Amino acid sequence: MTAAPKKLFVKTYGCQMNVYDSERMTEALGAEGYIATDSAEDADMVLLNTCHIREKAAEKLYSDLGRLKPLKAAKPDMKIGVAGCVAQAEGEEIVRRMPLVDLVVGPQSYHRLPQMARAVSGGGRAVDTDFALDDKFDTLAARPKVRRGPTAFLTVQEGCDKFCAFCVVPYTRGAEVSRPGDRIETEARDLVAAGVREITLLGQNVNAWHGQDGGLAALVARLAGIEGLERIRYTTSHPNDMDDALIAAHGDEPKLMPYLHLPVQSGSDRILKAMNRKHTAAQYLALVERIRDARPDILLTSDFIVGFPGETEAEFADTLALVEAVGYGAAYSFKYSARPGTPAAERDGVADDVMTDRLHRLQTLLTRQQRAAQEAMVGRVTPVLFEKPGRMAGQWGGKSEHLFAVHVDAPDGLRGRIGQVRITAAGPNSLAGDLVGIDAAG
Ligand code: SAH
Ligand code: SF4
Ligand code: F3S
Repeated sequence: MTAAPKKLFVKTYGCQMNVYDSERMTEALGAEGYIATDSAEDADMVLLNTCHIREKAAEKLYSDLGRLKPLKAAKPDMKIGVAGCVAQAEGEEIVRRMPLVDLVVGPQSYHRLPQMARAVSGGGRAVDTDFALDDKFDTLAARPKVRRGPTAFLTVQEGCDKFCAFCVVPYTRGAEVSRPGDRIETEARDLVAAGVREITLLGQNVNAWHGQDGGLAALVARLAGIEGLERIRYTTSHPNDMDDALIAAHGDEPKLMPYLHLPVQSGSDRILKAMNRKHTAAQYLALVERIRDARPDILLTSDFIVGFPGETEAEFADTLALVEAVGYGAAYSFKYSARPGTPAAERDGVADDVMTDRLHRLQTLLTRQQRAAQEAMVGRVTPVLFEKPGRMAGQWGGKSEHLFAVHVDAPDGLRGRIGQVRITAAGPNSLAGDLVGIDAAG
């Protein structure tokens, strides 16, 4: 007699790397007899894959754990695990503060999750936040060969050596490590064989990848050789790691999508220096110009922090000026959040109402630019990779090369196909269009 499968509920916070890690953790526990469920209520194990980047993100863990308390009281055999960057940053402290937590696993040690799950099934506790010397991806079981959707993430680089003064990532994810090119290619080929047509290469500093000579541009060229893989993206890039070859690839490699997330954080040289970003606003603008020379229709996006300690109104105005000068297609902007252990947390902060006001002004400008980029698509014919049926019956939805959500009225069966779409209208969340052509392959 085989035991009934145990059910695993995973909740993912934070960045795309956590999305990828959640998939890998689910697969690793799959080998232990767990199957995924989308409700915490009927789970035998709940795994919270956490983010530490801003105070609010980290607090979510404790409010979610509070909500799990009655569930665990009613179902004492249920196991609760905390993974991700809060697990790394707080380790044992989580168990002390929240005794209902059975296991804590850091982002660099989750290949040991199966052993940990076995250990806690007997009623014990397990905490592992080592920066393991063994290669996590090597130790994890091979990825199961299941049919997948048309897009996938693939982590190629982890960790960060940049130590921006505000950021916890170098502490939660450790030093920069690049996965070797041949392993990445094997994983990419398996994803394509499973139905994937677009891969987004992930890394905290993805363009610092050095798993083979030639850096990320060489990896992109290598993966572009995979038949059936139609689109390649990468994120997140640091401006100082955009080398000539990668810039040139945006002009030369048709599978590399004309979209680049290139965070700048601030437009003020004094603030950039205080943030330890190691470039000036002018250097960033010159880089943008070179990228646009290589690929004129590239859509640029960025991250911004307002109210970094000491930021004056004039320095904030420099950020607005930089945004005006670049013209972004989308962006994320945040109020500065002091993070324990980072150098900037020692400095005097900007008043919250000032930050709120600046965030509002910046977001007004960024939203206007985003709307302009969407409106500029109307009347154009653009390729769309279809992913899923739209919200309305008879509709299909997908993404354009610029990562705009697009929907069309179309018959069933478009999943994974690339269609030519004439954009007819731009709404706040997606573009509408007419399907005017479709690729041959299904
Ligand atoms: N590696 C990426 C970003 C990782 S964190 C890069 O270098 O661009 C994602 C974004 O969160 C950052 O770009 C930054 O804008 C924001 N962020 C990081 N730490 C923050 C903090 N302490 N307060 C507010 N925003 C922060
Ligand atoms: Fe954080 Fe800076 Fe590293 Fe990005 S480059 S992860 S912002 S320290
Ligand atoms: Fe958050 Fe960790 Fe990603 S802090 S943004 S989950 S690297």
